[in-house]
Amino acid sequence: MTVHFIGAGPGAPDLLTLRGRDLIAACPVCLYAGSLVPEAILSHCPPGAKIVNTAPLSLDEIMAEIAAAHSEGKDVARLHSGDLSIWSAMGEQLRRLREMGIPYDVTPGVPSFAAAAAALGAELTLPGVAQSVVLTRTSGRATTMPPGETLENFARTGAVLAIHLSIHVLDQVVTDLTPHYGADCPVAVIWRASWPDQRVVRATLATLDQAIAGEMERTALIFVGASIGAEKFEESRLYAGDYDRRYRPVGTHPRFPEEA
Ligand SMILES: C[S@@+](CC[C@H](N)C(=O)[O-])C[C@H]1O[C@@H](n2cnc3c(N)ncnc32)[C@H](O)[C@@H]1O
Repeated sequence: MTVHFIGAGPGAPDLLTLRGRDLIAACPVCLYAGSLVPEAILSHCPPGAKIVNTAPLSLDEIMAEIAAAHSEGKDVARLHSGDLSIWSAMGEQLRRLREMGIPYDVTPGVPSFAAAAAALGAELTLPGVAQSVVLTRTSGRATTMPPGETLENFARTGAVLAIHLSIHVLDQVVTDLTPHYGADCPVAVIWRASWPDQRVVRATLATLDQAIAGEMERTALIFVGASIGAEKFEESRLYAGDYDRRYRPVGTHPRFPEEA
């Protein structure tokens, strides 16, 4: 018996990996975080599967469901939104499973920041403009931020910020970031990326408040940084005609001569 943690992706049911789909189809028990996991993904469960929405359950109750499946020798598909490596509450479940001696594995999913960037049609890391993306959030009711992880500290690097779980404090985000990025820094807010009711707003730190017209509820991701919507950037050296590389050696003395 194994608990399969599966990243269910950002919302669109077809943004699920094939491995995730096949595992769901093979598990007689499915536990899913109902607040963000699309119900359509549950259609992959086999007929007669026990399907439990864990949104209203405590950690103890979730672990009790898993322990019950374990005692019956039934594999469990455990679904969380996006990818499991960020803000999934998987860590505490894995620790309990290790204590209980129950085997598990992890299948990654499409994270919401990637779906949000796709909604913009944007590469976040543009040569000469930005080469780092910080996946971060602000304090919430359930989670305080470690002291060094302030928006101001990340802003000092000039990296692109992908700010999660923070649409309700957007005013504060703008206030904190404007001194570092400048009022004309590009911003994009993407609500429910990849869902049918996806919404995208592009603005600057100065104009964002007016542009979003008060929509500070619903699931959203905020990008701040110079690369958002930038047209002025260098082309990548990797594909430059005179750039000598293993798969396209150039010049009279290439560093990576083709093997005979
Ligand atoms: C609890 S976290 C889950 C993150 C998830 N594990 C991931 O890989 O993106 C929820 C936050 O992720 C962001 N988020 C999740 N799904 C989203 C979507 N479809 N569109 C925009 N933001 C999303 C929002 O910032 C939301 O507040």
